[in-house]
Amino acid sequence: MNITIIGTGYVGLVTGACLADLGNKVTCADNDKTKIAALKKMIIPIYEPGLEDVVRRNAREKRLNFTSDVKEAIKKAEIIFIAVGTPSLDNGEADLTGVENVAKTIAQNMNGYKLIVEKSTVPVETGSWVEHTIRVNLPKSKKAKFKFDVASNPEFLREGQAINDFMNPDRIVIGVESETAKNLLLELYRPLNTTIIVTDIKSAEIIKHASNSFLAVKISFINAISRVCESTGADVVKVAEGMGLDKRIGRAFLDAGIGYGGSCFPKDLDAFITIAKKNGYDFQLLKATRDVNDSQKKLLVKKIKDALWLLKDKQIGVLGLSFKPNTDDLRSAPAIEIIKQLQAEGAKIKAFDPQSMDKAKNILPGVKLCKDVYETARNSDCLVIATEWNEFKKLDLRALKKIMLQPIIVDGRNIYDPKEMLNSGFRYIGIGRTLEK
Ligand code: UGA
Repeated sequence: MNITIIGTGYVGLVTGACLADLGNKVTCADNDKTKIAALKKMIIPIYEPGLEDVVRRNAREKRLNFTSDVKEAIKKAEIIFIAVGTPSLDNGEADLTGVENVAKTIAQNMNGYKLIVEKSTVPVETGSWVEHTIRVNLPKSKKAKFKFDVASNPEFLREGQAINDFMNPDRIVIGVESETAKNLLLELYRPLNTTIIVTDIKSAEIIKHASNSFLAVKISFINAISRVCESTGADVVKVAEGMGLDKRIGRAFLDAGIGYGGSCFPKDLDAFITIAKKNGYDFQLLKATRDVNDSQKKLLVKKIKDALWLLKDKQIGVLGLSFKPNTDDLRSAPAIEIIKQLQAEGAKIKAFDPQSMDKAKNILPGVKLCKDVYETARNSDCLVIATEWNEFKKLDLRALKKIMLQPIIVDGRNIYDPKEMLNSGFRYIGIGRTLEK
């Protein structure tokens, strides 16, 4: 099939590369000329395991190409995916200017039947607005001549494992209002051999919001449980394991820690709370989820403070900056917020992340960015684990103990066994499992 993806951000690029890998002819279009020039040279703007290989292979085999000529890309495709950014406005709503502009451009360049698919995470009813926008912007001469459909096909891929999530999804959701749209999308996704849920556009839009919100609720739930574990002396890791074995609950997304970050959950929750409010529902459950998430970062700062007494001039080493492992994405990363809070109290920060050091340079003034774990730990009063990268899971504890000023580890992701840490001579402070008192 001839496909155009508009927007070469995370979702757009992965979708484009993977759809090409399934044998389609894909054009990834973006009006950011610098980005497109880089992509043409196979310079991938994000770190995502496996993505570069898929892009290179499909570009070489001429199934994938990049262009900044969005109009031309619209003309040559039958299926057009909208994957432009939908950032948060100050009031929590999603900014849909990009989506509206793309819809207008599609209308002005219509030259045959088009199926327009929303892939960006958008509020419910965006599909209707896209349809309306295209209809009113279609030049009169084209109105009777060209038909089009709008569909919603939300993306559920996770950063860090996006290729695998795309190729092996738990389900695919398509929201359609016509048989043509339905059949085209069923045909497109047939090679993936998974359950495809076909529904109306609004339900598809809400499935995306509800799924992300539910996962965020799950994380905040276990974080709230971790507070009770801490005050009673229970271990939240064991509690999560015990709960998770119940098939109705499941173990995934029950890792207590410093809370969720990234470009999706925080933004999507804000947007869903706002949409619900607009529709007359005060979504208190999601507001509480957000509050618990914010409080986890403050909790970590308090734990560090309790361990070090005063923070002023204390040297703190932070391991991990990205919002989760296997990505260089620092958007709404808990580590960044925690570092800022520590700096505000006068602490001196050193930090190391396996992938995001270049990005960190611009957003972490005053932080000494180190070349590895051991440079970060040297002469530090305390080491904070903020992202559970695999390479932080087997640290040389003996070597660390020798070079740190005080052997204190604050583990914001619970990747160590508290007993093992105590036996190694460390004061170990985790989340919901501290072996103290
Ligand atoms: C999330 C969803 O998982 C995807 O299904 C969705 O497609 C995507 O948002 C999106 O809307 O685009 P992502 O933001 O890449 O994916 O990352 P997740 O793996 O979901 O993790 C989000 C945050 O939750 C991370 O900061 C992670 O550290 C945190 N988390 C996750 C926990 O604190 N505890 C857990 O048990 C699981």
